[in-house]
Amino acid sequence: MNTSAHELQFDARGRLRHLITLAGIERGRLDALLDRAEAMRRDSREGTRPLDLLAGRTAINLFFEPSTRTRTSFDLAAQRLGAQVINFDIARSSTVKGETLLDTIHTLEAMHCDAFVVRHQEAGTPAYIARHLRTRAAVLNAGDGNHAHPTQGLLDALTLRRRFTDLSALRVVICGDIQHSRVARSDVHALQTLGVRDLRLCAPPGLLPDSDSPAATVEFPQCRVFHNFDEAIEGCNVAIMLRLQKERMDAAAIPSAADYFARYGLSATRLARANADCVVMHPGPINRKMEIADDVADGPRSLILEQVANGVYVRMAVLAELLQTA
Ligand code: CP
Repeated sequence: MNTSAHELQFDARGRLRHLITLAGIERGRLDALLDRAEAMRRDSREGTRPLDLLAGRTAINLFFEPSTRTRTSFDLAAQRLGAQVINFDIARSSTVKGETLLDTIHTLEAMHCDAFVVRHQEAGTPAYIARHLRTRAAVLNAGDGNHAHPTQGLLDALTLRRRFTDLSALRVVICGDIQHSRVARSDVHALQTLGVRDLRLCAPPGLLPDSDSPAATVEFPQCRVFHNFDEAIEGCNVAIMLRLQKERMDAAAIPSAADYFARYGLSATRLARANADCVVMHPGPINRKMEIADDVADGPRSLILEQVANGVYVRMAVLAELLQTA
């Protein structure tokens, strides 16, 4: 029987070997990763100083889906730790001649590499690769289908931990295309593990699993479900907006920008219903004027670029944790 994605992540000594999902990672380990990211932030204040922790190690970015933030920040993170980085060009690789995913992985393993950073449209692909490795390489999930985006969950948690001293007191709403969102799933795991109790999910009915469905019960335990954003954001300290993942929808299911914004977009007027200290987050890329108004995305409550900055430190921490041998 296959081990679960969670069990697969640990070696025989209980050390984190891969990062596939945040589901089931206990609080102490999550806090330790965030503390390490915080230390990376402190040590990297100059922005470019290599720390040499991973000198002589090689990381391969394997992105089967487009990315700006995740790919660039994994690249920078590995380089700032002194590792060599290969950005594998899928479109110019022998995968277009029909080479299988596992043949590709085993070929790259034969050239000696220490980490595969994998983004794939199919949920479960990073775990599948991890199960079939022939070396001690680590697999880091950079987003698989709607399953998980663990480093996004960690960077969102770091961003909130830097802003608020007591996460357990927060009221958080996650609004948008929950159905297709790996970010929502990883954020829920991270925030609940770190103590957030009032976690609200808000989406149009078609973009959120039914509240009594197995998907909702298993993936979003103890979350309150809303379809009315004005009600959901009432008194919130944090509003996490999600991208409408048009590439995963039928053309007929994509709402008009104006209608979607009117019901589920974050305007300054709607933000005024939240708590006075409410911060605004979005994993990016943003569909401006659909999910979020320009004056909110670029306004004083926005932590969107802070999230991006923290992504580098979180990825440095995760790479160091998985690859450092000493
Ligand atoms: N947040 C995120 O995953 O962005 P990219 O798709 O640009 O990597």
